[in-house]
Amino acid sequence: MRKLGPLTGGEVHLYIVQLESSENNFAQAFSWLSPDEVERADRFRFERHRSAFVLGRAVLRALVASYLRIAPEEASFTYGPKGKPALGAVASPLREAADSFHFNVSNSGDLAAYAFTLDCEIGVDIEHRRRLLEIEGIARRFFAPDEVSELMGLPEGERHEGFFNCWTRKEAYIKAVGDGLSVPLDSFEVTLQPGVAARMIALDGSVAAAQRWTLQAFTPAPDYAGAIAYQDRERPLTVQPLATVDELLGNIPKV
Ligand SMILES: CC(C)(COP(=O)(O)OP(=O)(O)OC[C@H]1O[C@@H](n2cnc3c(N)ncnc32)[C@H](O)[C@@H]1OP(=O)(O)O)[C@@H](O)C(=O)NCCC(=O)NCCS
Repeated sequence: MRKLGPLTGGEVHLYIVQLESSENNFAQAFSWLSPDEVERADRFRFERHRSAFVLGRAVLRALVASYLRIAPEEASFTYGPKGKPALGAVASPLREAADSFHFNVSNSGDLAAYAFTLDCEIGVDIEHRRRLLEIEGIARRFFAPDEVSELMGLPEGERHEGFFNCWTRKEAYIKAVGDGLSVPLDSFEVTLQPGVAARMIALDGSVAAAQRWTLQAFTPAPDYAGAIAYQDRERPLTVQPLATVDELLGNIPKV
């Protein structure tokens, strides 16, 4: 994997990581967690969920640390009213970058995605495109009416992909805003047709409001869909190749 470059204004970096590791790295990862993260890890009933949370947080800490030239255990997080994590106070020599640093994380299957940018809130969502039999029912429940029509108008062989395009784009927007499901999912419309660029079509009925947002789709791995959302003109996006936790931790420069 390439070494982390500095994150300059106006670009987005994206990492896709497989959340499995050797025992040594797991022990190191666990040692970086804050007391509240350890407490949260211990609340998981299943070991695989606990382990994914520990590794997910450790990777986030390692990436944040590398950008801000601090040690992973020095990263601290605060949480918005609906749980969106943000960077807390950190003693970084890169003061300006730390003050304008934004990130978001998504997990699905055994993968996690991490999006980083400066100066604007960002949301990321990835979904494993598992077989969902109830696509139409779920779409009718959550999507805007025009999205449902567009989805059901697709040839049957494209609906599954269209469904996950729509889902990840909507979820990325909600996560950028940070208000969780208090944002009505039918209050905005996104493109979903396979092969058509990701875009917000309308927001609260306004095309102008939608145009202030950028959606970008990416494929985290075969059978996965992914999208990012942020309120700015389109920024150059660098997607790092899929890495395991061991590869990633082994390649991040130490401070
Ligand atoms: C919590 C929520 C923000 C995302 O949930 P999700 O899609 O199940 O989970 P993801 O893996 O994509 O994201 C979880 C991560 O997002 C971050 N997160 C938590 N709350 C957040 C919020 N309010 N806003 C943005 N990010 C948030 C955290 O880093 C979290 O990871 P962590 O628990 O390891 O710290 C919220 O949007 C939700 O509950 N969605 C439900 C799914 C749904 O019904 N979607 C319909 C889409 S059409």
